[in-house]
Amino acid sequence: KRRIGVLTSGGDAPGMNGAVRAVVRMAIHYGCEAYAIYEGYDGLVKGGDMIKEMHWEDVRGFLSEGGTLIGTARCAEFRERPGRLQAAKNMIIKGIDALVICGGDGSLTGADTLRAEWQGLLKELVEKKELTEEQIKPFTHLNIVGLVGSIDNDLSMTDATIGCYSSLARICEAVDSVDTTATSHQRAFVIEVMGRHCGWLALMAGVSTGADFIFIPEEPPSENWQEEMCHVIKKHRAMGKRKTIVIVAEGAHDRELNKITPNMVKDLLTNQAGLDTRVTTLGHVQRGGTPSAYDRMLSTLQGVEAVRAVLDATPETPSPVICIIENKIVRRPLLEAIAQTKEVATAIEAKDFDRAMELRDAEFAE
Ligand code: F6P
Repeated sequence: KRRIGVLTSGGDAPGMNGAVRAVVRMAIHYGCEAYAIYEGYDGLVKGGDMIKEMHWEDVRGFLSEGGTLIGTARCAEFRERPGRLQAAKNMIIKGIDALVICGGDGSLTGADTLRAEWQGLLKELVEKKELTEEQIKPFTHLNIVGLVGSIDNDLSMTDATIGCYSSLARICEAVDSVDTTATSHQRAFVIEVMGRHCGWLALMAGVSTGADFIFIPEEPPSENWQEEMCHVIKKHRAMGKRKTIVIVAEGAHDRELNKITPNMVKDLLTNQAGLDTRVTTLGHVQRGGTPSAYDRMLSTLQGVEAVRAVLDATPETPSPVICIIENKIVRRPLLEAIAQTKEVATAIEAKDFDRAMELRDAEFAE
């Protein structure tokens, strides 16, 4: 019987449990055994009880739970070869030669590195007498399949990552709450949202809540943004608006890559626009809580596809990542998706914001 491992890695995201549930049940459905690896790559490096067989009923109730019930970690050991050597040994001991990883781009890259090194690692384990030739014989290749779990929606080649719509919904709820108090006092609020180097959450939150101004990393504001922002906001006030909402992505910066902080924006709104202003940092509230209907559906459909991708894989197939493009669940080469994602970061670092926006646009119109 084929043994398929599933793990969640990096920052948790709503919907990760749905993905684990789908992988476990689909693996069983196709006559395989499913193993959950607890605490992300930490579990793979530690082995033993951290790698547990999962039965159909073990994932009961997972679909509607937020976070990740099998735990996650940002594992430093796995980034080094000795950590991956240990991970390979633990997988052979458990008889696992296929891994489905739900995480962000860093987590998925790590998995592909393990795949690339696989034969070398097994050889080394035999040389060091940690495993025998007999033990490694059935495990000639490692299959890796990526599922993108992240609230940031920052992976190229997929329209939505697992978790981003739940997070967006939570941000909208929070901004709606802030709206009522802002309107009552005619105040301005600067709201910082997560997203790391990606402005998707801030952009979509701005669109969904009718914010007055937003700051995102891919398209920094004009050089005289201070005047521009105050002008826009005063204009909105002159039209009768009783509240002001400015959304700042945590990765926001100006055209010279100087960070734009919520407090900087607050000072401007207070001193130049004359508004009573407060800052609200949403923090991890936007990452927690139950997954939206969309994320339950996305994680389930993608988990199903991930198991199919494991079973279809040949030694020549490049590791796939499961994406959603124009409402279709599709496979794309994992390394290409990661390379394209890195291109956006490189364009931003080079202050080529037109290129950054062009790449982001292309992500949604393949
Ligand atoms: O990648 C998800 C994310 O929530 C980012 O939006 C944020 O920058 C980061 O993780 C926060 O990480 P941590 O929870 O480790 O502080």
